[in-house]
Amino acid sequence: MDTDSSTTSSSSQASQNGEVQQKEPPKTHSFWELWKIFGYILPYKGVFALGLVFLFLSTATALIFPYIASVLADVALGNGQWSINQVGFFLLIILVLQGIFSYARIWTFAYVTENAIADIRKAVYNRLIKLDLAFFEQRRVGELTSRIAADVTQLQSTFSIHIAEFLRQIATLVIGIAIIAYTSVKLTLLMLATFPIGILAAMYFGRYIRRLSKSTQDALAESNVVVEETLQSIQMVKAFTNEWLETARYDKTMERVVKLALKAAKYRGAFVSFLISAVFGGIIIVLWQGAQYVAAGSMTIGELIRFILYTFFIGAAIGGIGDIYSNIQKAIGASERITDILDETPEIQSEQLVKQEIKGDIVYQNVHFSYPTRKDVVVLKNISFHIQKGQKVALVGASGAGKSTIVQLLMRFYPLNNGSITIGNNNIQNYDISTFRSNIGTVPQEVILFGGTIQENILYGRPDATTTEVRQAALKANALEFIESFPQGFDTLVGERGIKLSGGQRQRIAIARAILKDPAILILDEATSSLDAESERLVQDALHKLMKQRTTIIIAHRLATIRNVDQIYVIDGGQIVEQGTHNELSDLEDGIYKNLLKLQFELG
Ligand SMILES: Nc1ncnc2c1ncn2[C@@H]1O[C@H](COP(=O)(O)OP(=O)(O)OP(=O)(O)O)[C@@H](O)[C@H]1O
Ligand SMILES: [Mg+2]
Repeated sequence: MDTDSSTTSSSSQASQNGEVQQKEPPKTHSFWELWKIFGYILPYKGVFALGLVFLFLSTATALIFPYIASVLADVALGNGQWSINQVGFFLLIILVLQGIFSYARIWTFAYVTENAIADIRKAVYNRLIKLDLAFFEQRRVGELTSRIAADVTQLQSTFSIHIAEFLRQIATLVIGIAIIAYTSVKLTLLMLATFPIGILAAMYFGRYIRRLSKSTQDALAESNVVVEETLQSIQMVKAFTNEWLETARYDKTMERVVKLALKAAKYRGAFVSFLISAVFGGIIIVLWQGAQYVAAGSMTIGELIRFILYTFFIGAAIGGIGDIYSNIQKAIGASERITDILDETPEIQSEQLVKQEIKGDIVYQNVHFSYPTRKDVVVLKNISFHIQKGQKVALVGASGAGKSTIVQLLMRFYPLNNGSITIGNNNIQNYDISTFRSNIGTVPQEVILFGGTIQENILYGRPDATTTEVRQAALKANALEFIESFPQGFDTLVGERGIKLSGGQRQRIAIARAILKDPAILILDEATSSLDAESERLVQDALHKLMKQRTTIIIAHRLATIRNVDQIYVIDGGQIVEQGTHNELSDLEDGIYKNLLKLQFELG
């Protein structure tokens, strides 16, 4: 029944997202996942081992208490060779030692956990940022940040508390059983007979707890998607006064989280209370038997007290282990999610990497392409063209024709389905990807800036550039004037994604960034929203300076800007339908370019 509900919930989530989501194969080696995560403790194994020693010592000292208490009982009754004061002094020493060991244990485990968890977060982020675009098109940002936040936090409590507690309880169990076995073997065996029931229950309940906990974390990730997306486009939410709609959407995901968490709690509660009843049931039987031994004279009162005290310790340990066990199951659920990301392969690295500078002619040959997330729609068909080094070419065509896609393939954002793209006779796949991309500069269709200062945003083009170089770049990009008109100049904060700047200002920042990068190849994806005449002139002028000496591909919407390029390609439905210079294409009877030109002329 539970299997059913969890599959329906995950499939409804997939259809909600509306994207093709890969169905994950069922995981079987769950402990293996946690084990892989354990690998992150290895660098701190020395401190971890020390922590284990302290753990053992603090458990051992805690367990000496009941023993001494029972000795005290026998001493009070006049048996044994110690005085009451001697025993009391001994108790005091144990008390101090116990304090020191507990302190050291907590500190060492915290040290290991905090470091290991930070390493896991770093590893997840490091892997995420290197994955290819197709991965991000299938997921949503909110879901991924939830992985780094909520799932890792789940592991954190497991590493810092549960593992140590688990070991402590096991140690209590082992030491406790050793002591009671030493006191009475028969009674001990009687008690141990109740154990298999607990183990079977653990196996039965553990599965459900793990699965439900995983669904809870998924639901949490889903709710995080709502927060992330609405906060990112808060202006739009308000403009459409859809606050209530988003609140309702969020409430719904929260209800799901609570429902799943409570369902898991039901299993956890049933498991723990079952275990406690079983254990205490066993204890009662043992006590009843022990009382008979004392009555028959085969056991002293001190021994019985010792036995009872230790049995309670053992009972508590078993109850504790049950709770910890279910928490560890939750952690396994979380670690599966994390290893999912860690196991993704980063962007393809070629075998024989060409490290040299990227220069020469750019050649597209029979390129076919469809996006990985929409494999059945062919976006590019048989695209072939040749750009000589230093030439400037333009791509024009209707919206959705495939112009941006053509240049995204040059950036190696997606693998080709068929055909090849070469630069200087080397297939672009053979270049080292970082070196390769560092040679290409882009001014994208929609400029998105980082939330920091103008200075930081320009520096993104080349982080080691000097302040003077940044200033120079801003000057060439026609951006210096407006930057200096701000009271804070280059230190002006641009707001989340750059919303405190106008469209034309953002573009000029992006141009300054590209100037700083100084790439051999330049891609300009013209913004579709038009600027006023003055900003347009400033941007065009800046672009002209930027294009000098560089192989450039311009995606143009305003044909006036590409009159002087070496070659124009008209793209329609993913194919090149016309090509030539401006003059050649304007003379073409019934040509698409000619029509576009006429249309823009009439509009202008
Ligand atoms: N990431 C993506 N995943 C799936 N399909 C996509 C993706 N990006 C674009 N497409 C689809 O590919 C086709 C070509 O899009 P592309 O962005 O190349 O058009 P464009 O010519 O640049 O248009 P515009 O002039 O509006 O910018 C469109 O049908 C679009 O829906
Ligand atoms: Mg486009």
